[in-house]
Amino acid sequence: MKPREIKPGVFWVGAVDWDRRLFDALIPLPDGTSYNSYLIKGSEKTVLIDTVDPTMEEVLTGHLSGLEVKDLDYLVANHGEQDHSGTIPRILEKYPRAKVVSTPKCKGILTELLLIPEDRFITVDDKETISLGDKTLEFIHAPWVHWPDTMLTYLKDEKILFSCDFFGSHLATTDLYVTDEGLVYEAAKRYYAEIMMPFRANIQKNLEKIKDCAIEIIAPSHGPMYDKPEFILEAYRNWAFDEPKNIVVLPYISMHDSTRKMVECLVEALAERGVTVKQFDLTVTDLGKLAMSLVDAATVVIGTPTVLAGPHPNIAYAAFLANALRPNLKFASIIGSYGWGGQTVEQLTGMIPNLKVELLDPVVVKGFPKEDDFKALDNLANTIARKHKEHNFI
Ligand code: FEO
Repeated sequence: MKPREIKPGVFWVGAVDWDRRLFDALIPLPDGTSYNSYLIKGSEKTVLIDTVDPTMEEVLTGHLSGLEVKDLDYLVANHGEQDHSGTIPRILEKYPRAKVVSTPKCKGILTELLLIPEDRFITVDDKETISLGDKTLEFIHAPWVHWPDTMLTYLKDEKILFSCDFFGSHLATTDLYVTDEGLVYEAAKRYYAEIMMPFRANIQKNLEKIKDCAIEIIAPSHGPMYDKPEFILEAYRNWAFDEPKNIVVLPYISMHDSTRKMVECLVEALAERGVTVKQFDLTVTDLGKLAMSLVDAATVVIGTPTVLAGPHPNIAYAAFLANALRPNLKFASIIGSYGWGGQTVEQLTGMIPNLKVELLDPVVVKGFPKEDDFKALDNLANTIARKHKEHNFI
């Protein structure tokens, strides 16, 4: 896509990565992504805000040449991760006068990750401003969305907030602004779940910090821009501040159908009691979908067979991820079957110390489930429904 003018002198100069399917060698990208970089031409100074993934550096340098950018005064690095910073060395080579503007923390990260010399940096304090002549940039430190180095850049008179990963979505599109709110809501929630959710308390603080900022456009570093910012601000407030909902997430594995039978029984019993269940067979699940479901669930029930005397390795992997993502869950339980023995419950509960949950009595049975086992699952469904009701999860 060619550069697009957002307001007079302000351009989108990023790259759309339609075909990327994995981020950090971990996160599925079903809809690709974009690396949004922005150029601002002031009456006296020219600034580039963030760069692009190094695989796309020719796209960015081509945009700058196309816009006849002969000189660059500043290169704002809102965040040090390489999908935004990886092309900084190439830009500094092309524009030898340009200074990198960043938080002190980001400077430290960039000198280590990209070996950028210290004398190419200007560090800025929270709320510090830089004049471009007829335009002014204000820098808002926003640590832990999602690295400790992050800042947001606010173009004051134009009321544009360049928010880097904050409010982003992995979504390749030709649309400069959000056109399909349902689609972007899903992509932004998935993105929040995968990288922002572990830092929920910091997300809350940073939402508070910008709440009095007059914003006409939010310009994130991934996905389309928001010309109706309230849409994404409200979504973030819900995800970060709201109590969990009347939802059970049920990731499971079954090897010989015993655990599957138990899962089917529990799901039916919960549904009969008005509890929403999101069930994921981990042999076919997109982990992003599982992460997204944890954003507003009150309870997780893990279904696993016992293999090698413990939980199935795919379940252990999912438990490790859930523990790292720190969702706002309140209750957890374990169901499943074993053939001859093992320590599935002990091992699994030991893997989730970050989840501040009340553990509800597990239902782990020998062999195929029998009448008493189905009754125990019914009791578990009763307990979950009652707990959700007592806490007013709706
Ligand atoms: Fe899009 Fe944290 O990088």
